[in-house]
Amino acid sequence: MERFAELTILQPEDKEGIDEPRTLGDELVEGKKRLYIESYGCQMNFSDSEIVAAVMRNAGFATTSSADDADVIFLNTCAIRDNAEQKVRNRLVHLSAFKKRKPELIIGMLGCMAERLKTKLLEEEQIVDIVAGPDAYRDIPKLVEEAETGQKAVNVFLSREETYADIAPIRLNSNGVTAFISIMRGCDNMCSFCVVPFTRGRERSRDPHSIVREAQQLFADGYREVTLLGQNVDSYKWAGVETAPTDRQNFASLLALVAQIHPDLRVRFSTSHPKDITDDVLHTMARYDNICNYIHLPAQSGNSRVLKLMNRTYDRAWYLGKIDRIRAILGEDCGLSHDMISGFCSETEAEHQDSLTLMEYAQFDYGYMFAYSERPGTLAAKKYPDDIPEDVKKRRLSEIIALQQRMSLVRNQRHVGQVQRVLVEGVSKRSEKDLFGRNDQNKVVVFPRGNHQKGDYVNVLVTECSSATLKGQVV
Ligand code: SAH
Ligand code: SF4
Ligand code: F3S
Repeated sequence: MERFAELTILQPEDKEGIDEPRTLGDELVEGKKRLYIESYGCQMNFSDSEIVAAVMRNAGFATTSSADDADVIFLNTCAIRDNAEQKVRNRLVHLSAFKKRKPELIIGMLGCMAERLKTKLLEEEQIVDIVAGPDAYRDIPKLVEEAETGQKAVNVFLSREETYADIAPIRLNSNGVTAFISIMRGCDNMCSFCVVPFTRGRERSRDPHSIVREAQQLFADGYREVTLLGQNVDSYKWAGVETAPTDRQNFASLLALVAQIHPDLRVRFSTSHPKDITDDVLHTMARYDNICNYIHLPAQSGNSRVLKLMNRTYDRAWYLGKIDRIRAILGEDCGLSHDMISGFCSETEAEHQDSLTLMEYAQFDYGYMFAYSERPGTLAAKKYPDDIPEDVKKRRLSEIIALQQRMSLVRNQRHVGQVQRVLVEGVSKRSEKDLFGRNDQNKVVVFPRGNHQKGDYVNVLVTECSSATLKGQVV
């Protein structure tokens, strides 16, 4: 699996394929204190780290890509599953050696695990100096100052308004071609298995003008693709402000606004929620060539009883109906991916089979698949026993993954013999002689370098494929 295939989805990083956290690049300035950030979890966290970098730069810090050089180390953490938190705890063990060598080093925990555990994290992990939740990033320079005096510093206040709309993120480790734009924060959905509403607070949408300005600036800077990010983009809503009350937007109209910036600016988005994605959004996608023909539509289960326990607020028939609408409006070729959870509380063998048959019906191009991990404080943890044995969860998960791999291969084979428009993102990690990019459906395409460069659009005749990648020649 090519790692870069994974970078666009609002997804935790402990999924297949991504094994290392991502860090920001160097911006070495003599005499300045240096910040090192490591980001775990989903794209939202990576995007937030760019905001943190901007806030810290304004406070006079430079960034470094080496933890060894740093005066301040931030881990931007994830809490979505137990193993996401374990990974961070292991990293802290490693970092304690740094702190021994350099006692004035400041270590901060940001993001969802910080928000979930709050001050408990300071008790459990002695080397941590700062705990800051996702809505506290403007306050970070102050927290660092406090920590510099030897105190522990905490801000885990969740806001109803904060969107960081006015902060221009620093894109230090970017490919210069694709970028992410947060359009909303938080989540109001309360899926029973999910910790996100507790770690990221209430849903709020960002001012559309600031979104469009950010996208325009990215295009002017040479970027050719933006992905609009939110936990549930379909519930994006801007009611207008007093000075411009007519300035209402929903997700479909926002998509159109961003698509109109330039035909050469590709627009993607993630994540859609099956209960909220509208025909209006699908028609908008069909109307603009530069809105990519790809939807990430998490299912979580294919069984209506389990979906009810999960509090997803749709059932199997509703989900299949959405698939039908997507195929009717955007065609068979529309790229589709999903999330699926195996072994949720009380899931029977027959109900697990329903997840497999739902996948067969939908013919997903790709999937992000997980064994259920109980999260403290969630509705499911309070109401339903986590009663599916680990080995059963794992076996069901491996059946889901095996089916997805077979389907991915078949879906990719459809493209063999076709010419695909590819936006070049960089040099292939497997061979210096090849470039890679993605097609409209978000599939990675690898082809010989020729005279092409990242940021170019090229037409590639696909000649072969695996379940993860398409290969071909520029025509
Ligand atoms: N907002 C997105 C997903 C956010 S979390 C949505 O609603 O689809 C990303 C994925 O992690 C989820 O779609 C789900 O499949 C998975 N996930 C969340 N909580 C989980 C848990 N407790 N155990 C296993 N997987 C989980
Ligand atoms: Fe979690 Fe559900 Fe919100 Fe997604 S929609 S972030 S799964 S609560
Ligand atoms: Fe993302 Fe993990 Fe938080 S998936 S929203 S960083 S819990």
